[in-house]
Amino acid sequence: MISAAIVGGTGYTGIELIRLLSAHPQVSLDLLTSRSEAGTRADEIFPSLRGVSDIVFSDLGDDTLAALQQCDVVFFATPHGVAMQQAEALTQEGVKVIDLAADFRLQSLTEFEHWYNQPHACPELLKSAIYGLPELNRDKIANALVVGNPGCYPTTAILGLKPIILLQNQQNTRLIEPRIVIDAKSGVSGAGRQASLALNYAETTDNFKAYGVTGHRHLPEIEQGLEQLLASQFAHRVRFLPHLVPMIRGMFSSIHLELTEAGMAIDWQQEFASSYADEAFIDVLPSGIYPDTRSVRASNRLRIAVYQDNTRHELTILVVQDNLVKGAAGQAVQNLNVMFGFEESLGLNAAPIVP
Ligand SMILES: NC(=O)c1ccc[n+]([C@@H]2O[C@H](COP(=O)([O-])OP(=O)(O)OC[C@H]3O[C@@H](n4cnc5c(N)ncnc54)[C@H](OP(=O)(O)O)[C@@H]3O)[C@@H](O)[C@H]2O)c1
Repeated sequence: MISAAIVGGTGYTGIELIRLLSAHPQVSLDLLTSRSEAGTRADEIFPSLRGVSDIVFSDLGDDTLAALQQCDVVFFATPHGVAMQQAEALTQEGVKVIDLAADFRLQSLTEFEHWYNQPHACPELLKSAIYGLPELNRDKIANALVVGNPGCYPTTAILGLKPIILLQNQQNTRLIEPRIVIDAKSGVSGAGRQASLALNYAETTDNFKAYGVTGHRHLPEIEQGLEQLLASQFAHRVRFLPHLVPMIRGMFSSIHLELTEAGMAIDWQQEFASSYADEAFIDVLPSGIYPDTRSVRASNRLRIAVYQDNTRHELTILVVQDNLVKGAAGQAVQNLNVMFGFEESLGLNAAPIVP
């Protein structure tokens, strides 16, 4: 049994972590922090936790760090810039850190500072941090002290492109043209639980809008995934455009690609199916079946459909996930399982809920 803490337990990813960790057979959730709700039982704020967890929010002030240092692992379900303030003091005591924010995702300090408008607090530690996408980085995650849990959109984009980029590398031939268009949609919980005018009910319900049109923080993360994680031998130009859709949770990314002559010779349905055959959380749908967000709700599964049309040189990859689970808290627990040598799907096997 390991001892875990969550910093930032009143947010949407925080409550997902409480739900998942409370059902995990190898984890004891011993500390849960909130500045605004210190002293309150979590199930008073989230009645869904009644009978699931009796944990109380703490704000230990100056003693918080010392308390966190008693744990084996600390999850940061906080805004960007929080985890990097405490990660060094934790790792020095051997405590593992899983940050759901972006402090440990981008290896380039210039990119981090440009997109997140702040200097990095621990650049040396960043160098040893591992990007927490188990389907790509399992071996490194197993030995990591600090894991940067991926962004929700990049999870869909990188896993949706992985079989293509790897085969392209293996054959040392361009199979897709350089332009990659990722047209992505997220439910409103992707923006967190903080109140704001743009996110209130009347603004988001019965409405559908693009955002980050001139650039979004997840673009450099997707590019880093292609260039570093997948070590693409070929350059690509990525157009990433996210949208907010009127649903609470769920994410749908459509990836549009143009096949080269060599790419048209590949049976991409077969290639995706074999590439992910051993992955517990990735479901490549049979040809002709297309995913919907409801089919993954509240689960750690990510479903992919492949559509190939050689007459038009088209390859379209459709990817769905629950932004709060495979896109955040579920993936963080998957990373914990890898880091502590547990079976990777431990505590994550619940089926999606429908309707
Ligand atoms: N929502 C998603 O779908 C999603 C997906 C992937 C990644 N993420 C990332 O995961 C992180 C958490 O997201 P979320 O949606 O759960 O956010 P959220 O709903 O806004 O919750 C943020 C939490 O952080 C705490 N907090 C805020 N400022 C803090 C500070 N300076 N120090 C300590 N705690 C602080 C808040 O609690 P108190 O104010 O009570 O302390 C709250 O519990 C973010 O970095 C987000 O980008 C979110």
